[in-house]
Amino acid sequence: MECKPLNTNKIYLITGAAGFIGYFLSRRLLEQGCRVIGIDNINDYYDINLKYTRLELLKPFEKFTFIKDDISDKAMIMNTFEEYKPNIVVNLAAQAGVRYSIEKPDVYIQSNIIGFFNILEACRFCPVDHLVYASSSSVYGANKKIPFLETDFVDNPVSLYAATKKSNELMAYTYSHLYKIPATGLRFFTVYGPMGRPDMAYFGFTQKYFAGEPIRIFNNGDFENDLYRDFTYVDDIVEGIGRLLCNSPVGGNIAPHQVFNIGNNSPEKLMAFIETLEKCLSKVIGREVVFDKTFEPIKSGDVPATFASTDLLQQAVGFKPRTRIEDGLQRFADWYCEYYKVK
Ligand SMILES: NC(=O)c1ccc[n+]([C@@H]2O[C@H](COP(=O)([O-])OP(=O)(O)OC[C@H]3O[C@@H](n4cnc5c(N)ncnc54)[C@H](O)[C@@H]3O)[C@@H](O)[C@H]2O)c1
Repeated sequence: MECKPLNTNKIYLITGAAGFIGYFLSRRLLEQGCRVIGIDNINDYYDINLKYTRLELLKPFEKFTFIKDDISDKAMIMNTFEEYKPNIVVNLAAQAGVRYSIEKPDVYIQSNIIGFFNILEACRFCPVDHLVYASSSSVYGANKKIPFLETDFVDNPVSLYAATKKSNELMAYTYSHLYKIPATGLRFFTVYGPMGRPDMAYFGFTQKYFAGEPIRIFNNGDFENDLYRDFTYVDDIVEGIGRLLCNSPVGGNIAPHQVFNIGNNSPEKLMAFIETLEKCLSKVIGREVVFDKTFEPIKSGDVPATFASTDLLQQAVGFKPRTRIEDGLQRFADWYCEYYKVK
């Protein structure tokens, strides 16, 4: 299926624009000449310098407007919709992370439930052509049947984070049904890449290595029954979102509310992923990188495997993620060593 160009007459509102995926999506839209309104509260869940670095890279685009605010502020969201009248909304702002939802549950309710509710309410009163929002592979919980299909049973989330994402799908379904809001939920599968999130394992392992510290791997040290993850390169996520935005559901073949997996459709053993990361870093710094590894029990809330079926996405937009981890991790390693000036 051909990817139509993005409609540059539309106004795109992206929440979480200073975040990892939000930055790359904003940049892609701006490069194509779209008008982008970005919202982000720049919270300090991870190093805010990284968020400001991303924003600096978006600033030169004339058609970029940034609003530093919180989506859980309903009046602010309603005013922003009234002022800018966005046609397309992509909600990526959320408190991410499975493990942190055990430590700080409140912030998940505030951003992921109240914040998302505000976005839905704004779409109800200021109609949009399309609302796209981030869900997560974590909604599949501890499901054993692989690959994960969008039609699988997902009523047993094993973390509060997953429960908020599943709730978002239910809330979006209801609003879409009641107020005819064309809405699409995207279940992202472990997204990685340059300028990624420092709370994610590949980033943390790299930081630890350069700090001369051991890395902790939560897989019981059981290589036979290692964790499997469907690692998805950020450009593939952006390509998938871009294609969904080009193929607007209005009058199209996509129902008013639909959910898609966006994953690599090719899970890797965690240990193989780590080995590839070591090789990629070795290539950049010109000496062999071997992480000092300690093995620990699987953390509560973590799931044994993630594996996306991408057939539905492929049918809808003619695309499925395809970046090999060797290539994606090399781009991460190149960026990391350059950004942090490590040798
Ligand atoms: N990266 C992944 O592997 C992955 C996997 C599954 C789902 N997701 C989802 O994709 C979305 C984007 O993830 P990401 O990896 O870019 O995360 P990120 O943390 O880098 O980006 C989220 C951004 O949203 C902002 N934000 C958080 N709460 C906010 C609020 N209440 N108001 C305004 N801004 C707020 C943060 O400051 C951050 O910059 C999130 O919804 C996340 O749950 C990500």
